[in-house]
This record gives sequence, structure tokens and C-alpha cells, in this order.
Amino acid sequence: MAVSSAPGKVYLFGEHAVVYGEPAVPCAIERRARVGVEQRSDNKLRIHAEDLSLDGFTVEYAGGANDRPDIDASESLLNAAMGYIDSAIEQVRDVTDEGDVGFDVTIESDIPLGAGLGSSAAVAVAAIDAGTRELGTTLETDELADRAYRTEHEVQSGQASRADTFCSATGGAVRVEGEDCRSLEAPDLPIVVGFDGGAGDTGKLVAGVRELRDEYGFAADTVDAIGDVVRNGEQALADGDVEELGRLMDFNHGLLSALGVSSRSLDSMVWAARDAGAHGAKLTGAGGGGCIVALDPTDETETALSYTPGCEDAFRAALAETGVERLE
Ligand code: MEV
Repeated sequence: MAVSSAPGKVYLFGEHAVVYGEPAVPCAIERRARVGVEQRSDNKLRIHAEDLSLDGFTVEYAGGANDRPDIDASESLLNAAMGYIDSAIEQVRDVTDEGDVGFDVTIESDIPLGAGLGSSAAVAVAAIDAGTRELGTTLETDELADRAYRTEHEVQSGQASRADTFCSATGGAVRVEGEDCRSLEAPDLPIVVGFDGGAGDTGKLVAGVRELRDEYGFAADTVDAIGDVVRNGEQALADGDVEELGRLMDFNHGLLSALGVSSRSLDSMVWAARDAGAHGAKLTGAGGGGCIVALDPTDETETALSYTPGCEDAFRAALAETGVERLE
């Protein structure tokens, strides 16, 4: 069996706009998905997962959407997760030219599903890395990131950027603009995450922004404005100016709200963080529900969030310097 882990991430700036070629700056955090992959003697794919914000589950099927077993409808998130795993295993088969091989896949994750912390990218990166190593191939980080990107691209019906998967594969803070992906120097940021216990549907949220952008010129301008915020944010990051980073994150949140991807609980967590004295706060990831990210070197934001109605969990998140880790 080969076991790999990969980190989740928060977006300091630029989600959604990155889908349209604007730059984005995500930052890997020490919350990881660990995926074990073991070759089987038949062609089945057996998935066992725990801690994906759902009860542990085990499913077994021959692979491919048509053979997928019925899963309780309330577990639609689980279906989404299965889509990413299916597609990641297809990448493993493609890289290694082993079309018929079956696997036992075990997933453990401390990244909530669909909550803006990059759970699907982390699972895809770790699964492809472990799966290819199980078959004797070790991918370079760039190829691993590219293969994981193809997974997201497929599952999100062609609407995905390289940001989540590149960040998860390499770790640290990164800058992604179209196909140009690189690592950035980042100071030790005082990142606090608030989680409302919910999730958003990335595909639907991305499609909603696309519709707005197609319908209204000012929505297209809003997407462009996010790009300008990101460019300013890159400079603030390079200067280590945490106060300016916070101010720009506030701005970025306002623009994301205008694009319709915030929610009542995300807004109340953002305001609770600001009221507690955070330098700034914004939703992270696709939105619709899930997580916010705030910058606050004190304990005030965590405490305030823990009393905020709609906030289920608040925690400090350290920057993950390392992306994919090969554990076994
Ligand atoms: C989702 O984590 C980030 C989005 O920008 C989509 C993407 O970049 O693929 C909303």
C-alpha cells in the first residue's frame, strides 16, 4: 500500500475570478487529507472514507459512474467526493497505462468537504500520488498538480482553475494566473478560520458567477476588480504588510458578495471577525457556505467566532510549507 497526504488551503485572494484568467493567491494550511491506495487482484474500486464531515462509509463497485451504487440522497456531498476519487483513479490508470487495475482506497481527512478549504483538491492530489506510487511511478510535483487539475476540471464540468490543486501539491503560498503557477514567499500569517458547518456546490456557484458575468457588464467588471485586488495583495504579501492584506481581503469579500457567492452565515462570521479586531476577513473558496478566513494575531477573532450564531468551529491554521507528503 502507498499512502500520501496533501494539505487543504485558504484563498487569501482571487477565487472565482481565477476561473476567468485573473490571478489568485491561495495558501496551503496544515489540515490534510491522507489517502492510502492498494492494488487489488480484480478491477474493482473499493473506497473507505472517514472524517469527511460525514459518518465513515465503505462502498465497493467496479468503477465508473454507471456502476456506482445508490447512496442515500442526503449524502450528495459524498457523491461529489466519489466523483473526485473516481476521476483521480482514472488519472492513475492513464499515467501508468494500467486500464484494468482495481484498488482499495482509504481516505482520512481533517478538511471538511465542500467548505472552501480545498478538500477535493487535497484528496485528488493525495490519491493520484499514492495510486501512481503503488504502481511504481513517482510523479514530479508539476505533473501531479496537472493531473489533479484534470480531475477537478472533469468533475466541475470544465470550470476549474489550477489554483487549488497546484497549491495542494506544492504547499506554501502560491500565485496562479491561467496556466502560470508559482510559489510565493509568504510571512507567517496569523490565519484564523471560521466554519459554519455547511458547504457550497462549487460547480453551481461557478456557473452562477458565469451567468452574472455574461448578463451584466458590471459583473464582468467586478471579476476584473478582483484581479486588481489580487495584484495589490501580492505586493502587500511581498512587503509582509498584514494590515494591508486584511484591508484588501475585506475588499475582496465585498466583491465576492456582489457576485452572489456569500451567505448569511459567511457574512456574519466575516463581521464577527472584523468586530473582534481582525485586520480583515473574507469567505474562502467557492462560497455559498463553509469557511471564512481572517487575519488576527490575537485570540480575539477565534473567541468572537466561537460565540457567533452560525459558526460551528473556529480554529487557527498554520501555513503548510510542504504540499504532498509521501508517508508509506
Ligand atoms: C474553489 O475552491 C475555487 C474557485 O475559484 C473554482 C476554481 O478555481 O476552480 C471557485
